Amino acid sequence: MPEDLLQRRLVVVTGKGGVGKSTVAAALGVLAARSGRRAVVAEVGRRGDVLDTLLSPADRPAGGATTDDDDDDGFVERAVPVRGASGTLHHVSISPEAALREYLRDQLPIPAIADLLGSGKVFTGLTAATPGLRELLALGKVWELAQPVRRTPGAEPYDLCILDAPASGHAVSTLSAPVQFARTARVGPVARQGATIAATLGDPAQTAVVVVATAEELPVSEALELEDALGGRVGIHVALGVVNGVLPDRFSAADRDALAAGAPHDPAIAVADVHARRAHDQQRQLARFRRGFRRPVVTLPAATGRRLGPDDVDALADRLEQGLRRLRADGPGTTR
Ligand SMILES: Nc1ncnc2c1ncn2[C@@H]1O[C@H](COP(=O)(O)OP(=O)(O)OP(=O)(O)O)[C@@H](O)[C@H]1O
Ligand SMILES: [Mg+2]
Repeated sequence: MPEDLLQRRLVVVTGKGGVGKSTVAAALGVLAARSGRRAVVAEVGRRGDVLDTLLSPADRPAGGATTDDDDDDGFVERAVPVRGASGTLHHVSISPEAALREYLRDQLPIPAIADLLGSGKVFTGLTAATPGLRELLALGKVWELAQPVRRTPGAEPYDLCILDAPASGHAVSTLSAPVQFARTARVGPVARQGATIAATLGDPAQTAVVVVATAEELPVSEALELEDALGGRVGIHVALGVVNGVLPDRFSAADRDALAAGAPHDPAIAVADVHARRAHDQQRQLARFRRGFRRPVVTLPAATGRRLGPDDVDALADRLEQGLRRLRADGPGTTR
């Protein structure tokens, strides 16, 4: 069962661009809701990729998933249906601008002053002058979502927040921002906030990272580097590797030779030849990932639909659950 991983308060999903981070974050959210949790998946930068995948086309809001996800009244924490779940799943899209407005309203006694300071012009000036501030603000909201007692007035706490984090390099700088601010500001509210967020991120009982890759050379290399950077320099616990989009490897070496020999003469054999070689290359990259990655690794199959929807995410959540269950059977603590 995936309880080890999903018992954290915050699970961060990252990896190279385009490898399936949002899809894996959505599948983890489905698993959490199925296991009875009240979970939220958070995306940053007004993206709605997770929401798009979790909602059927009829349920998707007109004009894009994130058009109304933050406004002057704060963030929209939208409930997302999960079939057969005893828990619940929510989605929120975080923009640093809205995070600043919320932060100021929380800190300053006069709402009009908070709104003035949080206005577009001031925000642009502040963030341009302060490297890392956008990241700190976004992570501050993620931290708030992961708290057992919410700071947002009237907001119900979640058991688990799953962060669909930016891609590799940007993820490292985002996740390092709190500790950088804590160090450079030293004293005052920003240093305190930085230190508080950094303490949550750095505590393996509360926070874990899932590194996603596809079984290709560059994504695997980036995932291995990411494990080193996050586990080392950034000091955040990496719990699991996910290799996404794995093709079935149906052919033996002799089959592959036969396909290669027939490919120039027959278009159908040529297609099978390409598939066989891709699947074989994937297996080599998967083996390389397993050798280099220090944490447990699970695989997810390539779905065949044109655009992934809730049924595909359900099926991927099943596979993730099976993979995690197998790891658990292999030895206690493998996904800790
Ligand atoms: N297992 C899978 N089978 C088939 N298609 C997949 C699978 N996983 C993801 N996809 C598709 O691949 C594309 C990229 O996936 P996704 O958006 O999850 O990646 P990402 O890492 O979040 O990308 P980005 O770096 O742009 O945020 C999407 O169209 C998604 O539907
Ligand atoms: Mg994404």
